[in-house]
Amino acid sequence: MFLLGRFVMFYLGKTKDTREVSLSKEDLLRHVVSIGSSGSGKTVSCKLLIEDAALNGIPSIIIDPQGDIGSFLSGFSPDDAEKLGFDPETALLFQEKAHINIYTPGSSVGRTFSLNPLGFELGENISKENAIQILDASAKSITSILKYTGGAEERVSKFIYLCLEYIYENSLEVGNFSDFENFLAQVPDEIASLGLLTDLERVHLKTQVKMRTIGFEKLLFESPSFSINDLLWAPSGKTAISIIYLNTLNTQREKDLCVNHISQKIYSWMLENPSSSLQMLFYIDEIAPFLPAGALKPISKESLLLLFRQARKFGVGCITATQSFGDMDYKALSQFNTWNIGKLATEQELKKVKKVVESRCSRDETKELLQTFPKLKGGEFILIHPKEIKPIRYRTRRLHSNHFVLGIDLIPQFKTYLYHVKTFNGSFLVYSKLKTVKNIKDRVRSQSKIKILGIKPLTA
Ligand SMILES: Nc1ncnc2c1ncn2[C@@H]1O[C@H](COP(=O)(O)OP(=O)(O)OP(=O)(O)O)[C@@H](O)[C@H]1O
Ligand SMILES: [Mg+2]
Repeated sequence: MFLLGRFVMFYLGKTKDTREVSLSKEDLLRHVVSIGSSGSGKTVSCKLLIEDAALNGIPSIIIDPQGDIGSFLSGFSPDDAEKLGFDPETALLFQEKAHINIYTPGSSVGRTFSLNPLGFELGENISKENAIQILDASAKSITSILKYTGGAEERVSKFIYLCLEYIYENSLEVGNFSDFENFLAQVPDEIASLGLLTDLERVHLKTQVKMRTIGFEKLLFESPSFSINDLLWAPSGKTAISIIYLNTLNTQREKDLCVNHISQKIYSWMLENPSSSLQMLFYIDEIAPFLPAGALKPISKESLLLLFRQARKFGVGCITATQSFGDMDYKALSQFNTWNIGKLATEQELKKVKKVVESRCSRDETKELLQTFPKLKGGEFILIHPKEIKPIRYRTRRLHSNHFVLGIDLIPQFKTYLYHVKTFNGSFLVYSKLKTVKNIKDRVRSQSKIKILGIKPLTA
């Protein structure tokens, strides 16, 4: 009974007078943002929500720019649990229920993850309008990947859009940059004759596409592609937590492309899988560089904004954290209904938060809160809902797992490999610590008498 009471809500912690502070599924659907100075406990506060989501059967897709979310995988011994203040029973339950995977774009250290913008999946039931929107967003991503800026950018983007539309309408098999390069060698007359690009510009475009099929970019754009359904998949009784680890990428531009890729994929997935109740969480930590204020427009900005604006209607709850929320696009912040505010150390941070607090609290409350924020300790927060609920000060509960930065060198230790097994009766996915198809074949055969038609590794 106790567990039931606890899991239907997202349990965050307790007030000084030991009242439990929780969020409901509806709160999560209206998005939650955690802000505070470095070390105030923002990431932990968001991880608490992910843990309870997993215990509740709600999967999460997470973008991890700092590498400290992967530590969900680290596990613990029950003895340690008590010593460290975990609740051992729930912590074990979390380990049993959560199906955690780390995806590493541009690297095979975790599960290799492709940012292939041509791998869009448009289902049969998609409306014409949504298909146009998705193809248009893909064309913009490709233009950005190809590094077009300035005068040519718009013409190239429209040209690529027409190519994608043609590919989609004629069901052509153009699934990656190598295929696209071949397509560009013989652009259909109906597109070429529009004169958007000169012959020379088309040759240049084809060369730019070819460059994406060589070296590191080949790894980045042509390694195995995962659909959102793959990221949300877990064996029966378990719930997926899929972490996209950004530290394997070298530049902010690559990270922007990755965030853009995931946001676009979630957006097209949710159009096809609408739900009125919470069906998944999308959590992006330290969001400010991907959604900056003002005229700065990394490729991730537009797609994140669109996702935050639409997600609730489709049952997708969004969580984010930032220590520099003043540098973040204000329009995006206004999409977040629940504000979880931790210690704010500087005058500048206080000044910036004043605007939000004023819009949600009375004058006296605002004055008091602005005096309280600098006095909060690590792990202490004030939860600010929209106007009707009073701000609540509380201390976060312990995580059910360890919290530390999972270095790249530690990831292989936790890696599992994914195989697609085909049989006469259908097909299924197998997760395994074993690395070769032969080993996995032997193991599947020894465990069941089914006749295997084929096994294909889905991860390198
Ligand atoms: N298992 C745990 N449960 C709860 N709190 C923890 C746990 N492990 C560590 N902590 C506390 O969380 C603090 C760090 O919190 P966190 O990483 O969430 O801060 P942050 O605000 O995200 O910082 P940054 O700005 O550096 O990302 C540590 O000081 C530590 O005391
Ligand atoms: Mg953090």
